[in-house]
Amino acid sequence: MKKLNIGLIGYGFMGRAHANAYRKVNNFFDLGHQPVLKSACARNEANIKGFAKKWGFESIETDWRKLIARDDIDVIDICTPNNTHAEIAIAAAKAGKMILCEKPLGLNGPEAEKMVSAVEKARVPNMVWYNYRRVPAVTLAKNLIDEGKLGRIFHYRAKFLQDWTISPDLPQGGAGLWRLDVKAAGSGVTGDLLAHCIDTAMWLNGTIDTVTAMTETFIKERKHTLTGKVEKVGIDDASAFLARFSNGSLATFESTRYARGHKALYTFEINGEHASIFWDLHDLHRLQYFDHKDEGKLRGWRSIHVTDHGGGHPYMDKWWVPGLQIGYEHSFVHQVADFIKGLDEGKNPGPTFKDGLATDYVTDAVLKSAQTGQWEKVKKVK
Ligand SMILES: NC(=O)c1ccc[n+]([C@@H]2O[C@H](COP(=O)([O-])OP(=O)(O)OC[C@H]3O[C@@H](n4cnc5c(N)ncnc54)[C@H](O)[C@@H]3O)[C@@H](O)[C@H]2O)c1
Repeated sequence: MKKLNIGLIGYGFMGRAHANAYRKVNNFFDLGHQPVLKSACARNEANIKGFAKKWGFESIETDWRKLIARDDIDVIDICTPNNTHAEIAIAAAKAGKMILCEKPLGLNGPEAEKMVSAVEKARVPNMVWYNYRRVPAVTLAKNLIDEGKLGRIFHYRAKFLQDWTISPDLPQGGAGLWRLDVKAAGSGVTGDLLAHCIDTAMWLNGTIDTVTAMTETFIKERKHTLTGKVEKVGIDDASAFLARFSNGSLATFESTRYARGHKALYTFEINGEHASIFWDLHDLHRLQYFDHKDEGKLRGWRSIHVTDHGGGHPYMDKWWVPGLQIGYEHSFVHQVADFIKGLDEGKNPGPTFKDGLATDYVTDAVLKSAQTGQWEKVKKVK
């Protein structure tokens, strides 16, 4: 088995999720490459040393430029706030490294375009961590749609609701709270949460042509952790938009961090000519399915427990016995497995940087429409 030396930047939420995936992937999937936790990087030496020890990284760096300059690193994995993605990814591409970048790809479309150009010029394998594609129930939804089970699709409906920023006392900026600082995040829920919904939607149902949106910032000023001053809040706290897909279907998308009682309620529903699908992150191992072809007296929504082997439930034969479910962390293991499988076979299974750019174009159009009050066209990826 060939070694794949990983240089991971950032030890927060995603640093842990990715490190866990690299450690487990070869225990469950038969692959031609084995990730090696070669080096972990962050600015604070004591913190990154602690992280490296806990997760089994061989070395540490405190400057990502030094990590990229190392000959013994094959893959740069970017798990840092959004405003750092472009600079790191472009430098990594120039150094000929493979790149796995967290979402959203760039702060906006123009920045993401430069990232796409860099990986195309360097011809390096690249991926964006839109991990929800690899929740088995979501992959099953994709397979059912591709098989034509839904027929013509009329509606796509997605939402992603949280409730953790309701307090006006919550500061913006700095560790953990960079998501509230527009300079670090690029936008609020549009680029953070709706980006996931948009990536899944375009993967399942094709490209989006036009959008009309509204956004709101409920708390207009917050103390900034880094400056200690009360500063204007530049992110959208809530965002809702209507969209028209290229295939003629209509969509509604909604996201907020002000939905008291909801922690990470990501759901989508798709209504087709023959069948409908519903999925809910809080119940992520189930796919709800309604088939109009069922005999009338038995017709109704079925709740498919996506744990079967040999019956077409994606990824599940790699885990436990049928009936035993898996969870959130496994979507990252699947993403690493598919990335490596792609390397073994010389294919890029996606989401590629180009796919990440397509999502950034939609979020750009959403934010623009919220300003103009008009329907906006979504730029198409060339
Ligand atoms: N795929 C998903 O479901 C998902 C979930 C959460 C976050 N994300 C994305 O992952 C990225 C990181 O988010 P997070 O929740 O892990 O954030 P986090 O705040 O938990 O961790 C960020 C890490 O980046 C490090 N960092 C910041 N600037 C750095 C620099 N210049 N050099 C080196 N290290 C630096 C911090 O020290 C910290 O370890 C974001 O782009 C976010 O949008 C994706």
